[in-house]
Amino acid sequence: MPTPELSDNPMDFIKNIETILNDTLEIISKCVETDELKTIGPLVNGKKSPLIALRSKLKDIEPGARKEVGKVLTDALDKVKEIFEEKELELIRLAELNFEKSDLTENFVALNPIYSPTIGALHPVTLAQMELEDIFIAMGFNVMDGPEAETDWYNFEALNIPKDHPARGMWDTFYLNSKIPETILMRAHTSPVQVRVMKTYEPPIYTVMPGRCFRRDTPDARHLAIFHQIEGLVIDKGINFGHLAGTIEQFTTNYFGPNIHARLRPAYFPFTEPSAEFEITCTICGGDGCRTCSLTGWIELGGCGMVDPEVFKAVGIDPEIWTGFAFGFGIDRLVQMKYSLSDMRDLTENDLRLLLQF
Ligand code: PHE
Repeated sequence: MPTPELSDNPMDFIKNIETILNDTLEIISKCVETDELKTIGPLVNGKKSPLIALRSKLKDIEPGARKEVGKVLTDALDKVKEIFEEKELELIRLAELNFEKSDLTENFVALNPIYSPTIGALHPVTLAQMELEDIFIAMGFNVMDGPEAETDWYNFEALNIPKDHPARGMWDTFYLNSKIPETILMRAHTSPVQVRVMKTYEPPIYTVMPGRCFRRDTPDARHLAIFHQIEGLVIDKGINFGHLAGTIEQFTTNYFGPNIHARLRPAYFPFTEPSAEFEITCTICGGDGCRTCSLTGWIELGGCGMVDPEVFKAVGIDPEIWTGFAFGFGIDRLVQMKYSLSDMRDLTENDLRLLLQF
């Protein structure tokens, strides 16, 4: 900035102020970064400012004009201050915007070379769920889902499991503290979704319902506390147990190939009658018996059976006209078998060495 040519002539003095003011404002307007603004700070409003330097020269002005010239100088200094502050705000805002726009992953990857920018992949359980949906869609089913936090009525009562029924012990359930009078819990199986489907749609129904389930189980080689099931429900006229067995057989060969066998063993579920447990050959040992299958050679995938007429009554379907079957099995268990994982907990470790294989 040019050093002011000092003059004690009031008109020249004012002209001088104006020139310096314009130069100062121009310097401020050219700043594009806050750092730059900081550097010029002393020049425009600090010790080195030529305008401020002029203050000490005011005394040389003839007394009659001193006041007026003084005012021009004060106004000029105020103007510089105002424009400087405006510019400061503008540059801060700009810096913030640029920060939001910047691609932080770039820095992240540069700082953490083990993270190469590879594209992620779907989890094997998600992949299995999608594959199962495809298999059942090809067999004529549609796909639905329901809430993970359920009422006691959907999870138990409508499924013919009244309060205090000993069968409730089959599902170690997480209960939620809620302010509403109804008991709310984390669904312990996907069967409440079949109740929702039956209450909402008229038969015939051919539906599968995949989703997460929650049980107070201690995780071990073949159990997780948060796991996935897929529920199947068929309701039509003249549906019998043969249709159920055939559907499970068809699904097993579609998913595992022809070498894995399924078997149904009599079992008990309050919402199906008759009921069966659905097991497949343990793929870890090929049926010889190992730690994962507790030396039985078979792995339980889930349960199934003919829909109990009590359930039909709870949802308002006439059991004299309609019959149906239902099944529900664990997707995580299925993935464990398909890929011969000896410990199901490996699926929740998020270890890239395992996940990248899918
Ligand atoms: N909901 C049962 C379970 O989680 C499985 C099942 C579903 C059994 C449908 C029969 C019919 O154990």
